[in-house]
Amino acid sequence: MKKPDQRRRFLQASAALFGAAALGSRSARAEAAAGAAGGAATPVTAGPPAAVRPGPPDPHPASSHTLTRIAFGSCAKEDKDQPIWDAVLDARPDLFVFLGDNVYGDTTDMAVLRAKYAQLAAKPGFRRLREATPIVATWDDHDYGANDAGAEYPQKEASRRVFLEFWGEPAGTPRWGRDGVYAGYVFGPEGRRVQILLPDLRYNRAPILKLDLGSRSYEDWAKQLADAGRFVPGPYVRNPARDATMLGEPQWAWLEAELARPAEVRILASSLQVLADLPGWEAWINYARDHQRLVETIRRHRANGLVCISGDTHYGELSKLDVNVPYPLWDLTSSGLTEVWPVVPPNANRVGEVLREANFGLIEIDWTRPRPGLSLQVRDVNGEVRLERRVRTEDLVVPA
Ligand SMILES: [Fe+2]
Repeated sequence: MKKPDQRRRFLQASAALFGAAALGSRSARAEAAAGAAGGAATPVTAGPPAAVRPGPPDPHPASSHTLTRIAFGSCAKEDKDQPIWDAVLDARPDLFVFLGDNVYGDTTDMAVLRAKYAQLAAKPGFRRLREATPIVATWDDHDYGANDAGAEYPQKEASRRVFLEFWGEPAGTPRWGRDGVYAGYVFGPEGRRVQILLPDLRYNRAPILKLDLGSRSYEDWAKQLADAGRFVPGPYVRNPARDATMLGEPQWAWLEAELARPAEVRILASSLQVLADLPGWEAWINYARDHQRLVETIRRHRANGLVCISGDTHYGELSKLDVNVPYPLWDLTSSGLTEVWPVVPPNANRVGEVLREANFGLIEIDWTRPRPGLSLQVRDVNGEVRLERRVRTEDLVVPA
């Protein structure tokens, strides 16, 4: 998400004046075209396509390693200092997961995008991380190429190749041939398997449904609400249409096959929040069919031991969904590695506090128990644990 400075200052000032809970703009693109629902996506189907067979996991040089500490983060501006890497390295992670907005590319010029990745590569902390720690990555809108963009972004295939090159995807892997950057890895031996699933929420995404404001601009409407001291929602709304999808059907087939694979712990590493319930800004909840289909796919494949991690928001928080789910679903949001958002939108599924400082996420796995225990954490730039929740994987089991 992007923060146009002028609007941000206005909205921050309004928030301070009126105490509105969720003023703000994560989008620079609240332009016209309100009501752009759906798109030309293929219809959602009830089950996995018959031809789908789970192939081997995506290759990763560290896949034989048992993962005990998995760090992750999102939203790192390449033109800022990135002191957070010292704290990340001090946590001695076995894996680091980049959840998107890994650079702020925001361009259709691939030379510009490459230059921004080069800026990230030159950061001393990032260089040390890369030398010390296996890395996996997905992207979000800004490293994909445009704020809040989906399938319509014209350079998506060129950007995909830049992404795969930068993150060191070995030549000839299945990932190079996909309609997006999605990938799934299984680390560790049987009994200590951790599956990392990295969906792509951009490459195939149908247009997001916007608030219907008639001829009014979102900015005018938001200002009027703010001036009246009223809550200002974001520019987007929940889309219940069957053909409104973020993943697209080939990626759904891939995710179905992945969730049928055995693992003791699963981490769905999503660029956008999976469980937050406010559709004003981009999140899974905006694509209601995808959201429901994810829950039903977990249930149908008896995909136990799954927790979600997410980024994008510019604040850290933990969400829990325990209604109409096969078992309680958790979503640990860490954002950003450099970016901080001053206003906190409502989220009825939030558990605990919000952290509005630069942060990274950490999942510690206790393998000494018969069923592994998880510590879900958000840590600050000093490495202090600021949010924490312990979750037992025996509570993450689809009932018989
Ligand atoms: Fe984003």
